Amino acid sequence: MKILIAGGAGFLGSNLTRSLLSQGHEVVVVDSLSTGSRDNISDLLSHSRFYFYEMGVETDEFVNEFIVNDGRHFDYVYDLACPTGVPNIQYLGEEMVDACSVGTKNLLRLALKHKAKFLLTSSSEVYGDPEVFPQTEDYTGNVDPQGWRANYEEGKRFAETLVSLFVKKHNLNAKTVRLFNVYGPFMNLRDQRVVPRFVTQALAGDPLTVHENNALRTMCFVSDIVRGLQLVVDKGMQGGIYNLGSDQELNMKELAEKIISLTKSSSKINFVPGMILDHKRRMPDLSKIHTLGWKQTVSLEKGLKLTIKDFKKRMPVVPVHGTVQIKMA
Ligand SMILES: NC(=O)c1ccc[n+]([C@@H]2O[C@H](COP(=O)([O-])OP(=O)(O)OC[C@H]3O[C@@H](n4cnc5c(N)ncnc54)[C@H](O)[C@@H]3O)[C@@H](O)[C@H]2O)c1
Repeated sequence: MKILIAGGAGFLGSNLTRSLLSQGHEVVVVDSLSTGSRDNISDLLSHSRFYFYEMGVETDEFVNEFIVNDGRHFDYVYDLACPTGVPNIQYLGEEMVDACSVGTKNLLRLALKHKAKFLLTSSSEVYGDPEVFPQTEDYTGNVDPQGWRANYEEGKRFAETLVSLFVKKHNLNAKTVRLFNVYGPFMNLRDQRVVPRFVTQALAGDPLTVHENNALRTMCFVSDIVRGLQLVVDKGMQGGIYNLGSDQELNMKELAEKIISLTKSSSKINFVPGMILDHKRRMPDLSKIHTLGWKQTVSLEKGLKLTIKDFKKRMPVVPVHGTVQIKMA
């Protein structure tokens, strides 16, 4: 099959790309590299079934290359293209709304042109600060359209609206997954999400910075998510929305302690003020994705060990006064 992955040089996209290549498919990645990295795919650039285009999906360049001119056929279009990371809601806010509006619409047009199956990776952020636990897919959320997190939250909600429009108006075979926290190899070392932050801090011997609200989160390993994305795009209902992630909650202090223990680090835990409007708790209802036969298979301990192994390989470290310090280029 011929597959386009928008955002394929990011954390999740590069894991999905590897999985699809290993299954014998041809993969075209389009990525602006705003939060992704060429390093994530550098070993694939010489692969005979892999093609990389550095460009934003919201640009005229993308429209000309893939919609106006291109003769290349696609069987699947995966839309993972969106800057991520809470600090980037401020720094890359406009890029977020562009990717989720013009970018997603361009990708939907492309899928329509080729009658390709389409999958949007939306987010648990569409539920905002939920008043309902666990969150089922029909819960419409609690989001402030003017709020500090709106660029991402409302961006994803609008991208979902576009998918729904193309299903209803054009009968496109499109689906949406709402991802809850995912972690694993190929996360950006500078990523401020909790697993990369704690792992880099632990490996450097620095204190692990747990936000004072000690939020509850669920964590799902990336290989389970990649399997879930493929399952939904192939077996999900047309126009269907599926929560995807883990429903096993833990607080951030527990996660920090686990990472300290698995890295055998001497780091301590420091409680620090949280991010603006950080959500205290989120929890997916997974009944719908379970009906497709999906279940989480990788334990937190196993997933963290694989993640730590990958981070150790990629983190440049120099010894300083008997400890180690990360040297970020
Ligand atoms: N990882 C998670 O826990 C999680 C949770 C919820 C939702 N998601 C969603 O899953 C998708 C993948 O997330 P990730 O964790 O791999 O993050 P990521 O930042 O590593 O990947 C996103 C990729 O999209 C690229 N990108 C951004 N804007 C683009 C544009 N306009 N055109 C082309 N490429 C663009 C980035 O450069 C990056 O490579 C995102 O849409 C994200 O919102 C992820």
